[in-house]
Order: sequence, then C-alpha cells, then structure tokens
Amino acid sequence: MQNLSFYDYHPTLLNFCDEVLKGLSLPQKKFPPQFFYHDQKGSDLFNQICKLDEYYVTCTEIKILTQNIKEISNIIGENCLLIEYGSGSVDKAYLLLDALHNPYGYMPIDIAKIHLLDYAKTTAQRYPNLQVIALNADYTNNIEIPEEVKNIKNKVIFFAGSTIGNLDYEDAILLLKQSVHLLEEKGGLLIGVDLKKDPNILHSAYNDHEGITADFNLHVLENINQELKANFNLNNFSHYAFYNPYFGRIEMHLISKISQEIKVADQVFNFKAGESIHTENSYKYSQEDFEFLAKESGFKIAKKWSDPQEFFALYYLTCE
Ligand code: AVI
Repeated sequence: MQNLSFYDYHPTLLNFCDEVLKGLSLPQKKFPPQFFYHDQKGSDLFNQICKLDEYYVTCTEIKILTQNIKEISNIIGENCLLIEYGSGSVDKAYLLLDALHNPYGYMPIDIAKIHLLDYAKTTAQRYPNLQVIALNADYTNNIEIPEEVKNIKNKVIFFAGSTIGNLDYEDAILLLKQSVHLLEEKGGLLIGVDLKKDPNILHSAYNDHEGITADFNLHVLENINQELKANFNLNNFSHYAFYNPYFGRIEMHLISKISQEIKVADQVFNFKAGESIHTENSYKYSQEDFEFLAKESGFKIAKKWSDPQEFFALYYLTCE
C-alpha cells in the first residue's frame, strides 16, 4: 500500500508476570490499568462499556465532536498531520478525518503492534489520498516522530476518551509537557476531558446494570489464571467502583469476599476478607483544574466545547 508506512519503535511492554507478582506483594495490592486491554476479550468488553447509556463518556464526546466538527476542522486548518495517541477510537478519528481540510496525514501511535497494523491498513484503504504513518510506540514515553513528517508545520495531536484521566497528576503533566515537545512548540492538542459532576452519575457509569464494567474488571483475574497458572475463583471477588471526592477520581477495585490463599506462578498470596486489589483510577477534572494543568504544561487554551450538562469537555490547546 503506497499511502501506508509503519515504524516499529519496539516499545517496552510491561512484563505481565513480573507486574502481577509485584502488584500482589504490595501492602495495597494493585495492577496496572493497561492489563484490562491485555487480550481481545478485554478490549471487546471496553468497547461494550462505550456503548452503554450509563457510560455517558463516549456518546457525549462523539456528540460534542459531531456538533462542532466544522469549527474544529476550521481551527485545525489546512494540511495538518493528525497524530493520535492510541488507535482505538475509530468513530472519533474517522469523524475528524472526514471533516479536516486536505489533511496531509494521519499518525496513530499505539503499543499494540498487531492491532495497530490492522487498523492502519484499514484506514489507508479507506482514505487512499491520505498518508497513514503508523507508529508502534508508547506515547507516554518521550518519542521523536519520523523524519518524513518532521517538517510538517501543522501538527495536531488527538487524545480522545478522557484517557488522560487514567494517569495520576504527575504523569498527566509529564505527558502534556512531552506533547509540547512532540509538537515542537507549534501545533495543537485536541483532548477529551471528563468533568466533575454529580457522583451518582459517575457511580452509575462505573457500576452499570448489565454488569459489563464488573466483567471488565474481573476479567484481569481470568487472564492471570490462564497465563500464570493462578487459581483465582472469580465468584470470590467483587467488582467495587466508587467516587473518591478527596482525589476527584473513580477508583476501581476487586474485593476479596472471603479470607483466601491464591497461588500465582507458584507463589502464594494471602487475602483477608474485604481486602482489595486496586485496578484503576479515573480522574475527573473541574474546568479550572484542567486548564491549570494545561497551562502548567506549556499550552494555551484556544477553545473549549462542551455538552449542555457540562459532563464532558473537548479542548483545543495550542503551544503558541
Ligand atoms: C479508558 N478510560 C478512559 C476508561 C475510564 O473511564 O477511565 C476506562 C474505563 N474503566 C471503566 N470503565 C471505563
């Protein structure tokens, strides 16, 4: 395919076994949130969450994008290189690519090589006049973009879904600072941010009635059973998600219902009844907090779009 190039930066993948054993040895047991997407079933469960009415995040962001797409493409301007952090949000990326004015190219950056390659091929076929430059890399690392696109003046990063919320404050600021560097202090960042709101709405979003979020959370244990010869009984753990107002975040945990011993890769871990494994944080921002974070990182707020209830915001940040 003429309009597709693929760069393998050989990103360092977290070692599943090491991270699980390390996480279970901590006083507050924990797993990295990346493990939710460890296999296809995990990614499928996340896609199902995105379709739930209770999980307002995805539909609200798509509505904001759709309703303001003309203004967004005008503000981004001609001949841009659209750089996407991750490559899962097809609906949103294609919405943008359909509307942009003569985009030069599209550069998804993803750590999952096979998925990225498939996605890049599909996208290159769909947009034969667009240069697709796929980067197999970890976007949270300070990456340099390939020479072939270095001198494109109008570079814009797209970071959708409020994935920034899964990073702690220090990591979020680091990623935004690295983004300023990647843009060579010239381009823009279009970023989705989930806003603070009535905690009951947040609670429903992470405790849906169908139990999909619970399955998504518990599925990590299934993967550990399969890959690390562990003996987690999923019936002995509960999905527990709550809003922690002090930290302004949803916390997801897996709570042991009973006192039990679990074997993982020949090591034994004890769980007291009620003890938790912390599996994810999802920070919710006030507009002031997010704008402060953006400015601290070297961005200016060029524009903000939101829904009437102000559940979610889409920001366009510029470096200059
Ligand atoms: C990917 N990320 C933005 C989601 C969130 O809302 O933090 C992951 C998720 N966890 C439970 N539901 C969705």
